Amino acid sequence: MKAITFTRYGSPDVLKYEDVPTPTLADDQVLVKVHASSANAADWHLLRADPFLVRFMCGFTKPQAKYQILGGDIAGVVEAIGKNVTEFKVGDAVFGETFDDGLGGFAEYKCASPKYLVAKPESLSFEEAAAVPLASVTALHGLRYISNVQPGQKVLINGAAGGVGTYAVQIAKALGAEVTAVCSARNLEPARELGADHVIDYAKENFTKGDKRYDMILCYQRLPSDWRLQARAHTERNIRHGRRRQQAAPRNHVLRPVSLDVRQQEV
Ligand SMILES: NC(=O)c1ccc[n+]([C@@H]2O[C@H](COP(=O)([O-])OP(=O)(O)OC[C@H]3O[C@@H](n4cnc5c(N)ncnc54)[C@H](OP(=O)(O)O)[C@@H]3O)[C@@H](O)[C@H]2O)c1
Repeated sequence: MKAITFTRYGSPDVLKYEDVPTPTLADDQVLVKVHASSANAADWHLLRADPFLVRFMCGFTKPQAKYQILGGDIAGVVEAIGKNVTEFKVGDAVFGETFDDGLGGFAEYKCASPKYLVAKPESLSFEEAAAVPLASVTALHGLRYISNVQPGQKVLINGAAGGVGTYAVQIAKALGAEVTAVCSARNLEPARELGADHVIDYAKENFTKGDKRYDMILCYQRLPSDWRLQARAHTERNIRHGRRRQQAAPRNHVLRPVSLDVRQQEV
């Protein structure tokens, strides 16, 4: 099969488009023919081995063979199923994340665990579906399983224009929160369109200064160190981003609600 691979850490120049063996299906896996994948911050971090900690997990001098194909999200069609798989059948359109499954979305085929996949709603194209899993589940974890955001709470989302932040704004609104989005000037209007009640241009206003208090601050963008302490003073709980405590809820119980929300929007 064709895949985009990397055998050394570095800039996107180290990526190669080449032929590699098609992965071998295990009894408890699903072979997905990948129609679309998406690039996430995770791919950037792994590609560049930045932060340095990546090297302890994925290979010190170069990425280990099992991490040499990036891509944490996939959308595609089930091509084959292992003999123990009951959740899907050949021909099902599915989408899901591969981050906890060894990545590998930037390839023609991916052997995935069924617990990280769900059925793709017909209303979503493969490209749209592939943009959902990793970023949206990260946002959902932060808001629902870690912060337990309640209706009426004041939630500030720093980095609201990014991959995770755009989902966080929408999910926080769906949970009934009063949402303040922090982003650059060009993204103020898009943030409003996503549902933010208030917007702050970070170039003009330091949200950690002033009197405004929030029940929750979710940071999907690193704060300058002198802002961090001030931000803590502005909220009861300061959440950096959801994935740190990903095990707070079983992963396969997380994507399903997102998928359902998508379906509800169809109606
Ligand atoms: N994407 C994922 O699936 C994922 C999964 C787990 C963890 N994470 C982590 O979550 C964090 C965010 O990831 P991401 O994918 O959302 O990144 P991203 O798409 O690069 O978004 C980051 C956003 O931060 C904004 N920003 C830049 N400077 C800012 C500032 N001074 N104040 C407020 N916002 C600022 C930018 O908005 P403007 O364009 O408006 O400047 C940008 O859209 C990263 O730490 C990442 O490692 C991501």
